[in-house]
Amino acid sequence: MKLETAAGHAAEVISSLPSGERVRVVSHNDADGLAAASITALALHRAGYGFHLTIKQTSSQLTQGMEKEENRVVIWCDLGSSNLEELTALPGTAILCDHHIMQGELTDGINLNVRSYGLDGSTEACGASAALALALALDEHNLDLAELAIAGAIGDKQDRDGFSGYNRSILERAVEAGHITLEERPAFNPATSLMDALEESIEPFFTGFAGDGALQFLKKLDIDSLKSFDDLSPQEQKKLLSALALHLVEQQADEIALMQTVPAGKRFGPLYDLASKLNACAREGNNGVGIALCLGSPGALEKAQELQQGYRAAIRHEMRALEKEQPQELSHLTYFYLKNGSLKGVCAGLSMTYLPAFDIHKPVIALTDDGDTIGVSGRGTPSLVEKGLDLAAGMQQAAAEVGGTGGGHPIAAGADIPAGRDKAFLQALNKVLSQQ
Ligand code: C5P
Ligand code: ZN
Repeated sequence: MKLETAAGHAAEVISSLPSGERVRVVSHNDADGLAAASITALALHRAGYGFHLTIKQTSSQLTQGMEKEENRVVIWCDLGSSNLEELTALPGTAILCDHHIMQGELTDGINLNVRSYGLDGSTEACGASAALALALALDEHNLDLAELAIAGAIGDKQDRDGFSGYNRSILERAVEAGHITLEERPAFNPATSLMDALEESIEPFFTGFAGDGALQFLKKLDIDSLKSFDDLSPQEQKKLLSALALHLVEQQADEIALMQTVPAGKRFGPLYDLASKLNACAREGNNGVGIALCLGSPGALEKAQELQQGYRAAIRHEMRALEKEQPQELSHLTYFYLKNGSLKGVCAGLSMTYLPAFDIHKPVIALTDDGDTIGVSGRGTPSLVEKGLDLAAGMQQAAAEVGGTGGGHPIAAGADIPAGRDKAFLQALNKVLSQQ
C-alpha cells in the first residue's frame, strides 16, 4: 500500500466524525514535531474540526495520563512508534504520523509511519511530511502546508543530500503550485553585514571568526565588511566564497556547500530560517511560540525571532569555548562535557563537522551532568552510517547496561543514564561501536 492510500483511510476515520468534534493531537517537542502538529491542527480546523494539541517528549511514559482520553480520535505526530502496544490499548482510534523506528504493532488504529510504506524514515519523509500526507488526504488544497512539512524535514536534517523520496515529491508539487520557490543562496545570512553574517554563522561554523576574526579575514580579501553578501559584485562574491571554502578546508570540514538551493515559502519565507526558529522554540521550551508562529498568530514571529537569536548566540558561545578545548577520545568515539543540556546535540554535530580537533571519522558524544541524571547526545555522519554506524542501537544497548535508556536514529541518538555511570556508559558504547 502507498502512504497516500493509507492516509486516505485515516482521513475517512476523521471525516466520519460529526463536524465540530474535537480531535486530540499529540506531537513531538522538536522542529519536525511542531511543524507536524501545526499541519495537523490547521488541516483539522479547515475541515471543520476542533483540536486539542499537546507537545511531549519521546518517553516510555508517553501515554501516561491518557488512559481516560475522551476524544475519539488521537493523532500522534513524530512520536509514538516506540509505544505502539500502549497506543493500541488506549481508548479511541490512534492515527500515527511518524517516521521513527517502530516497536511492536499498532493493531487498533491507522499506521502512517512512513517506514511501513517503503520510505526511508531518516531521509525520505519525516513526521511533518507524514502529517502532510494526512492533511492532503483530507483536502488537497492543504498543499500550501508543504511549507511547514519541508521546514520539518529540514529540522530533522533530511535535506542533507537534497530532498528525496516523499519529501521531494511534496516539494516538487508545492513548487509547481507556487507555494514554494527555490533560490540559490549562501549558507550564511546574505542580507546582513558580512562581518556579522560570518561571525554569526553556525552552519557552516567558521573557526577563528570571533572577536575581530571575521573582520580581519574580510580585510585581507579587501572586501568591505559592512556590506552584505547581496551588496557585493559578482567578482567579490566569488572571491569571498572561494576564500571561505578554503577556510573550511583548513578546518577539515571540506564537504560544505557554501551556496545552496534554498526553498522559500510564499507565507513563511526561507524555510531554513523557519526550521531554525521552530528548533529554537522547541529547544528553549517554548513550543507554544513555535505552534503560534505556524498557525499565523500575530506577535509570534517577533517572539520566535528573539528565541532564535538567543539560542544561536548560546550555540556560538559553546562552540567558541569548544574551539579552544581538546576533546577526549576513546578508540571509536570522541566525547566532551557541556553545561547546557539543551545544546549538547547540536554542539556534538557541529564540533564533529567544523572543529579540526574533532575526528570526522568518529561519532561525537556530548554529555551533560545535571546531578541526578546524565543526558547524552551522539551524532555521526552519513558516511559513518553507510559504514555500519548505528548510534540508536549503540545508545540503547550501552544505556541499558548502566541502568539508563537510549535510542533515536542511526545518525543522531541520545540516552539518559544515572549519575556517576558516565565512564561505564562511554566504555560500553565504545565497545558496541567498535563492533559496528
Ligand atoms: O537529544 P538528542 O537531540 O540528542 O536526541 C537525538 C535522538 O535520540 C532523538 O530522536 C531522541 O528522540 C532520541 N533519544 C532517545 N532516548 C533518549 C534520548 C534521546 O531515544 N533517552
Ligand atoms: Zn521527526
